[in-house]
Amino acid sequence: MSDVVLKVKSLKVYYSTLHGNVKAVDDVDFEIVRKEVLGIAGESGCGKSTLGNALILLKPPMRYHGGEAIMDEKNLMTLPKKEMRKVRYRKISIIPQYAMDALNPTKKIREIMQDLLKEHGENLEKKLDIVDERLQIVNLPKAVLNMYPVELSGGMKQRVVMVISTLLNPDLLIADEITSALDVSSQKAVVQMLHRMKEERIVGSIAFVTHDLAVLYQIAQRIMIMYAGKVAEISPTEKIVNQPLHPYTKMLMASLPKMGVRYNEIKLKGISGYPPNLLNIGPGCRFMGRCPFAFELCTKDPPLFDIDGRKVACWIYRSEGDEI
Ligand SMILES: Nc1ncnc2c1ncn2[C@@H]1O[C@H](COP(=O)(O)OP(=O)(O)OP(=O)(O)O)[C@@H](O)[C@H]1O
Ligand SMILES: [Mg+2]
Repeated sequence: MSDVVLKVKSLKVYYSTLHGNVKAVDDVDFEIVRKEVLGIAGESGCGKSTLGNALILLKPPMRYHGGEAIMDEKNLMTLPKKEMRKVRYRKISIIPQYAMDALNPTKKIREIMQDLLKEHGENLEKKLDIVDERLQIVNLPKAVLNMYPVELSGGMKQRVVMVISTLLNPDLLIADEITSALDVSSQKAVVQMLHRMKEERIVGSIAFVTHDLAVLYQIAQRIMIMYAGKVAEISPTEKIVNQPLHPYTKMLMASLPKMGVRYNEIKLKGISGYPPNLLNIGPGCRFMGRCPFAFELCTKDPPLFDIDGRKVACWIYRSEGDEI
């Protein structure tokens, strides 16, 4: 059995607008292996949520423009709707960004769970013990089952969504900014809950999306840094922190409050400038305008170079034989 749970290749997902395509996920390549936590980080608007959402449910104005996302030898992007309904929640599931607003306000939590299980040929009454166990993991009383979302606090709703998203033990869970609306102690608790779900094999692998690198440092084995709809770098967490390759990763790390990071190169305070507008964006490295190392080659789109098993999309890392 392959260790790769999800393989994404050349994936393009754009928003079609009156003014043209917003290229929010543009030629993205990465994979997630069994049992790993892959962190996905990058500034606001770099396409993290678009990537996660597109893998779960493509809906307008989001449009698929090519590439693949392979799970169990099937391309999720072209799977017929009926097939995708079977895969969702069971193979791949998401705790969406703004999960607190994701619950249907007209239904009790019990009914929401019942509907989901029914769609997958299961019955809540037969699963009540498991539901009870899961509620305990996220520190919620059984009584929430008989409540409407409006009766729950934001943090409770978030944890209810955690239970719902993992009810069918997905092979891969996408957790999108699940800590960003919480205070520091709740953040820690939520990360621990997720960790426990992985330890207890309720979820297989996790794609943990956040702009908070400090959180990823605690839980992710590898981190994928996105910039303006593209992958900038994918490296083991320790390497991202201590030996970042991509100029953008270097600058991101330098802008963090200290985390035992070593810098051998230029120290940059914060990142000046803004990411480019993704609407009708042209060729070339998207980071070029903010990059202190930019040179002639950067007017062409850099491929992902393989450096000792790490991936980096920057011309600095080309070797002599590489095609330009
Ligand atoms: N419905 C939409 N129509 C057009 N453009 C959109 C739409 N939703 C998002 N975008 C654009 O797509 C790009 C990627 O947005 P996305 O929400 O995926 O970023 P993100 O990395 O998740 O950001 P954040 O860290 O703020 O959650 C942004 O430029 C955003 O403005
Ligand atoms: Mg987002």
